[in-house]
Amino acid sequence: MVDLKSQYEKIKPEIDKAVLDVIASSAFINGPEVKSFQAEFEKYLDVKHVIPCANGTDALQIAMMALGLKPGDEVITASFTYVATAEVIALLQLTPVLVEVNPGTFTIDPAAIEKAITPKTKAIVPVRLFGQCADMEAIMKIAKKHNVFVIEDNAQAIGCDYKYSDGTVKKAGTIGTVGTTSFFPSKNLGCYGDGGAMFTNDDALAAKLRMMANHGQSKLYYHDEIGCNSRLDSMQATILRVKLRHLDDYAAARNQAANYYDKAFANHPKIKTPARASWSNHVFHQYTLQVTGVDRDKLRGFLATKEIPAMIYYPVAVHQQKAYRSDRSPDSAFPVTIDLLTKVISLPMHTELSDEQLKYITDAVLEGVGSGQEVMGKKQEAISS
Ligand SMILES: Cc1ncc(COP(=O)(O)O)c(C=O)c1O
Repeated sequence: MVDLKSQYEKIKPEIDKAVLDVIASSAFINGPEVKSFQAEFEKYLDVKHVIPCANGTDALQIAMMALGLKPGDEVITASFTYVATAEVIALLQLTPVLVEVNPGTFTIDPAAIEKAITPKTKAIVPVRLFGQCADMEAIMKIAKKHNVFVIEDNAQAIGCDYKYSDGTVKKAGTIGTVGTTSFFPSKNLGCYGDGGAMFTNDDALAAKLRMMANHGQSKLYYHDEIGCNSRLDSMQATILRVKLRHLDDYAAARNQAANYYDKAFANHPKIKTPARASWSNHVFHQYTLQVTGVDRDKLRGFLATKEIPAMIYYPVAVHQQKAYRSDRSPDSAFPVTIDLLTKVISLPMHTELSDEQLKYITDAVLEGVGSGQEVMGKKQEAISS
């Protein structure tokens, strides 16, 4: 789905030097590279504070801890997301309140948020699923009305711009109370291991986030809160410094690939290309089609015979997962989400896709989808035997 090796080859001299410099400095933890990355990322996002941490899941957890959320508090998020978003809510003994998404953009539906608000609601977690912003103006209006926090899970959309109706533009993750992200290697800004960060414009909250990520320590060996240990190491920070310089070019390359896909699949009766929200640009963490009247498993099998990977993000919604079932949202809840689970299929999406590769992929998808089930079935039988 991604080609990290080819991407590395292109920036090899920069990365190799940066990594060797860290080894030579022996400043592996909280060294100057972490501080420099933090400052450069603050500038890129145009936000006052970036607080690096160990991964995107920790970033969400620390944000909820620093905001003082208490067991029993309700946190609203979409059921159509990666499990990490709901996991940290449950782990902190808060109550995940799962809601519906918009069928075109795959992002949380503000009307569903409004309906789910109760006196116990303390926070909303909009997820920028697949690379574009949720309708933040509508979400911020609801949050203000009900006096609740907004934690932006930006793991899949770093670098994405949100456009307000008055034309103001802000980076995704800098609009709510606090934004979080993941630097997992396949993310749009990925390191070569694990990493994450939180961002906020609130000075007091930034201090609290920093403290919670560092054992609740207010000064050396004085622990005012029960925190956790969550650090971005210098090796990852130095890699991220290099890759941050290329992030906008990477987004452009992903968009170029998405445009190619869009054109190839335009007006196909069985294929719906991803909608682009009017309020956001798209950084295409994933390029996700919706297919109808197609046996998706057979299509994936057919693509696999041509060595084309395709993934189902996600086959099961959070409210249907064994660990997250609740009377509040039975398995049949959220018809839009349930419909999406049966239709979505994500194609290879990364910064190194050539037109030749894109032609090969789109031709194969069109063959797989358009040739009808019978032909695909026969091909599949041939493969299996
Ligand atoms: C939407 C979302 N939130 C959170 C995470 C968690 O990030 P990490 O894997 O760095 O913990 C991910 C990772 O895939 C994600 O996609």
